[in-house]
This record gives sequence, C-alpha cells and structure tokens, in this order.
Amino acid sequence: MDHQRSLRQRSLCIKPTRFLVFTLTVSSSVTFLTFFSIWIIRSTTSLHQESHVQFNGSFLHVDHKPITIHTLTGFSKDISASDVKDSILIATQLRRPENTSRTVVISDLKGQERKESGSIVTEEGRDTDAEEDNFTSIQGSAPEPSYEEVQISEKVEEKYIGPSSIENIEAPSEERIEETNSRVASIKEIQVTGNERIEEKRLRNCDVTKGRWVYDESYPLYTHGSCPFIDEGFNCETNGRPDKDYMKWRWQPEDCDIPRFNAKKMLELIRGKRLVFVGDSINRNQWESMLCMLMPAIKDPKRIYETHGRRITKDKGNYSFKFVDYKCTVEYYVSHFLVHEGKARIGQKRKQTLRIDTIDRGSSRWRGADIVIFNTAHWWSHYKTKAGINYYQEGNQVHPKLDVSTAFRRALMTWASWVDKHINQRKAQVFFRSSAPSHFSGGQWNSGGHCMEATQTLTKSLGIVDSEKSIIAEEIVKQMKTRVTMLNITSLSGYRIDGHPSIYGRKVGNQYSSSIQDCSHWCLPGVPDIWNEFLYFHLQCRQANSFE
Ligand SMILES: *[C@@H]1O[C@H](CO)[C@@H](O)[C@H](O)[C@H]1NC(C)=O
Ligand SMILES: *[C@@H]1O[C@H](CO)[C@@H](O)[C@H](O)[C@H]1NC(C)=O
Ligand SMILES: *[C@@H]1O[C@H](CO)[C@@H](O)[C@H](O)[C@H]1NC(C)=O
Ligand SMILES: *[C@@H]1O[C@H](CO)[C@@H](O)[C@H](O)[C@H]1NC(C)=O
Ligand SMILES: *[C@@H]1O[C@H](CO)[C@@H](O)[C@H](O)[C@H]1NC(C)=O
Repeated sequence: MDHQRSLRQRSLCIKPTRFLVFTLTVSSSVTFLTFFSIWIIRSTTSLHQESHVQFNGSFLHVDHKPITIHTLTGFSKDISASDVKDSILIATQLRRPENTSRTVVISDLKGQERKESGSIVTEEGRDTDAEEDNFTSIQGSAPEPSYEEVQISEKVEEKYIGPSSIENIEAPSEERIEETNSRVASIKEIQVTGNERIEEKRLRNCDVTKGRWVYDESYPLYTHGSCPFIDEGFNCETNGRPDKDYMKWRWQPEDCDIPRFNAKKMLELIRGKRLVFVGDSINRNQWESMLCMLMPAIKDPKRIYETHGRRITKDKGNYSFKFVDYKCTVEYYVSHFLVHEGKARIGQKRKQTLRIDTIDRGSSRWRGADIVIFNTAHWWSHYKTKAGINYYQEGNQVHPKLDVSTAFRRALMTWASWVDKHINQRKAQVFFRSSAPSHFSGGQWNSGGHCMEATQTLTKSLGIVDSEKSIIAEEIVKQMKTRVTMLNITSLSGYRIDGHPSIYGRKVGNQYSSSIQDCSHWCLPGVPDIWNEFLYFHLQCRQANSFE
C-alpha cells in the first residue's frame, strides 16, 4: 500500500507544465499513429490488388523467366535460374534478340551459311516453354557463334568467340600439347589459362550432355553400303531418302571433347566380353549402330557371325553377334518394359498384364553381361498400357487402375533390385540410356504426325519427351547399390528432328507410306552413332579411373 501511494505521489510530483507537455505529446502521437496506420492499411490493400493483377498477367512467365545476359556482340544467352548451380555454368541456347527468337538458326562448323531448306516445320513438342515455340519456319540464316567457358575456382569467366574463330584460340598457345589431331578445345583453353589442375578436374567433371551439334564432313563413321546389319526400318538411304546432311553431325560438348569413335579401340575395350543391349526398338536401333561402327575394324565380314544364324528383322528380339578375333559378342534382347509381360485371368478372360513386380523372363540371358545398356521408355504410353486399366499386376492382384508414373517407378525398382542382386558389380558395367525424344508434328504417330520435311537440326532441343520418367529413372539409379551410368541422350537428341526415318522407314505393302511416318526411330548412320560415342567415352573414362 505504502509503496503504491509513494509511486502515485511521485508521479503527481511532476510539475504542471511538464505534465501538460507530456499529455500533448502523447495525444498527438496517438492521433498520428492512428492516421498512419489507416494510411498503411489502405496503401497495402491497393498494393495487393496491383501485384495480383500483375501476377495474373505474367503468370505464365514467372517460372521460366530467363536471365538475359547481354553481351558485346548483341547476342543474348538464356539461363533459366534453376540451371545455375554448383558454379557450373550451363548454357546451351544462344539466341538472337527477343523478336527473332522463333528463327531457327542452323549451326555450322565453319560458320558458312547453310542452305535454306525452305520447308515448313510445325513443332508440337511438349517443351517447358512450348507456348512460345510455335515454330513455323526454318530459316538458314546467320551462323551460330561458338561459345566457350573457362571455369576458374568458383568463378565463371565467359569468353565469346565469334564464328570461325575456333582456330584463334589455338594460335597463342606456343607449347602445344601432343594431341595433334585431337579436337580437345578444353586443353587449348587451359593452356591459355595455364592451369592444368583445372583442366584435369574439368575433363573429369565435364558434362557431355551440354553442347551443340557441329557439322562435320568426316562423318558418318560408316555407310549403309558398308554395314549389312542395318534393318530395313532404319536404312533410310537405301529406302530412298535423298538428303544426306543428317549423317554429318557430331556432338561437341561445351567443356571438353568426346573422342571420335575408334572401332579397334572399342573392340579392345570389349575383348573377351559380352556387350549387351536390353530394351525396346530404340535400343535395337543403338545396337545396330554399334555393330555398324565396329565393322570397319574387321577386314573379313565372315569373322562376325550371328550365333543363332538369323537375319536381323524388325520386331524380332534376341540377337547375338560374335566378333571372332576379339572373342566378344554384341547382343540385343528385346524387352519393352524390362519387367514381365504376362497374362492373368480377369473375370472370365485371360488378358495381357504387366507384372511390375517381376523382372522380364529374358533376364537370365542378360545376367552374365559385362557391359549392359538398358532402356525402357516408349512403351509406357497410354495407348500401349491400356490406359492403366486392368493392366498392371503385382502378385495375384491386377490393379483396376494405376497411373503410369507409379507403375513405371515400381517396375524400375523391380529392375533395380534385380541388377543389385544379379549383376556382378566388380565385373560388369551397367548403363541406363535415357529416353530418346520423338518429333511428330501436326498429329500423333497414328494420326498423321510427320517430320519428313525436316532436313536440318534445330537450335533448340525440342521433341516429345517424358521428362517425368527421366527424373524417376535418375532417382532410382541414384539409390542403387550398383553403380549405374546414365547415358543422358535426351537433350542432345531433341535437336535432331532431321534424324528420323519419316517415310523412309518400313514399307507398307509395296510402298513407303506417307500417312504413317516414323518420327521416333533414327536413320542409320545417324543419331544413335553419337549415343555410342557417349558409351565409348564412358567406357574409356571407367578404364582410366580403374588404373588410378
Ligand atoms: C487471371 O486469372 C484468371 C484465373 O486464373 C483468369 O480467368 C483470368 O482470365 C486472368 N486474367 C488475365 C488478365 O489474365
Ligand atoms: C526485330 O527484328 C528486325 C530485324 O529482323 C528489326 O528491324 C526490328 O527493329 C526488331 N524489332 C524489335 C522490336 O526489336
Ligand atoms: C501456331 O501456328 C499455327 C499455324 O500458323 C496456328 O494455327 C496456331 O494457332 C499457332 N499456335 C500458337 C500457340 O501460336
Ligand atoms: C540430361 O541432360 C540435360 C542437358 O544437360 C539436362 O537438362 C537433364 O536434366 C539431364 N537429365 C537427367 C535425367 O539427368
Ligand atoms: C528372347 O529370349 C527370351 C528368353 O530366352 C524368350 O522368352 C523370348 O521369346 C525370345 N524372343 C524372341 C523374339 O526370340
């Protein structure tokens, strides 16, 4: 009590004038605060409305907004924000300023102008920014400038090199490295920076999937005449395809080089081994390409023979070719899904199902492989999986309905545990090839989709790709005990609208059909040769690493 009173007394002890000033200050502050907060509330609501409208307006572009870096030459480069990571700069797209972004510039080694095809290509690929990619014309115009980067300890230094100036980098370096006929641009660059450790690290960390197609007269590595293994469906030249440029492109990674395929070296790498491809017809495409690429090292074709003595025909599986002098086999096994295609009783009838919990029956044939390349992609479609209705089976249960992503994930997990269990990690090398894009325009594969008019590469990777499945595959591979190398060919193949058989694939009756075009498979020689160069690159890297 006493204490309280004394407090009050003390406050009353404030002089009257002071008290007056205090009251005034307090009341004016209160008034001010009230008005201020009213103003704040009002202005924020109007701010909210404004930003809402803005967001609504630019909704589509929020996610994909490119960071545009203007350079001296006036070209601009797009790097979507998600790509800038780990200080490795990713730049595959060079674009002219905004208003010509729909122009397809045809890249060229020497920077000469390439002839205009003048044909019309309508692209309906499910690309991330498909809404702005309504290609209506291909224009052979200015050459694409080449672009190289040097990475120096966390910082990324960019260099622009104009067209036809690849030689210019070489010039200043006096101490030439021994590799005379190599196209190792990265080595030359490193001489410029003078730091070998960076170079070493870079080759090791080189992301070969980032790069561009370069026109190279020295390709293809074989001809349709020199290779008896190309089956009709991929033998475009024999089937009358008139243009030949589609065979003459090689892939140039940004940060390093992939070595040119050497048949003898490859055969040495697989001496005494079984090189096995397992998957759908696109893997057969790659397998045939491999056989053709190895041919030049064999003088007498009789030194290669089919162990079952059969001719390669489309849609038939299980082939094994033996290279007698190298005691190795190059094999292909058809497996559309990698898991078992079976039958189950549903109601009264036995119907086709897919056992997503059981590995393909053919797996006993792959088990002993030394190098094995798996793939599965194109058959996981609505059409081929009966829309997931009464199709996927686990144990005795047939799922009345299951979405394709879930089924794909479970199937790949089945595959992954099979690999972990049955493939000898120490002996074998396992690859999983990512899905190859198809390029149907103006319809689906069965509704008039076409690609025949395309005779040049695109400057942007497009095409129908199921990126969700690639991501699932990547995730599963990462969790495996076995080291599985992803052969990521999706992006680079997306540029190659020109690489498909279109009407120069399989004959229907006596004629090539123009109503059904093949814009999924690839002509040989052609794009799968480059996938095999990737494989060759990885096999060499592995070997080099195992000597360390
Ligand atoms: C704003 O978004 C709504 C629905 O998201 C859409 O119906 C409307 O057309 C949009 N308005 C503008 C101006 O884009
Ligand atoms: C678009 O490109 C043309 C040349 O192709 C140029 O004349 C014109 O000014 C450009 N327009 C804009 C808005 O940049
Ligand atoms: C794309 O081009 C075609 C043909 O010119 C046109 O009919 C279609 O509306 C265009 N689509 C878009 C999304 O611009
Ligand atoms: C494959 O490579 C492309 C281009 O570098 C990249 O964008 C994509 O994420 C890669 N895909 C996988 C599954 O690693
Ligand atoms: C391939 O081999 C598997 C396993 O031996 C067999 O089930 C399948 O019928 C064979 N396919 C063809 C087309 O020969």
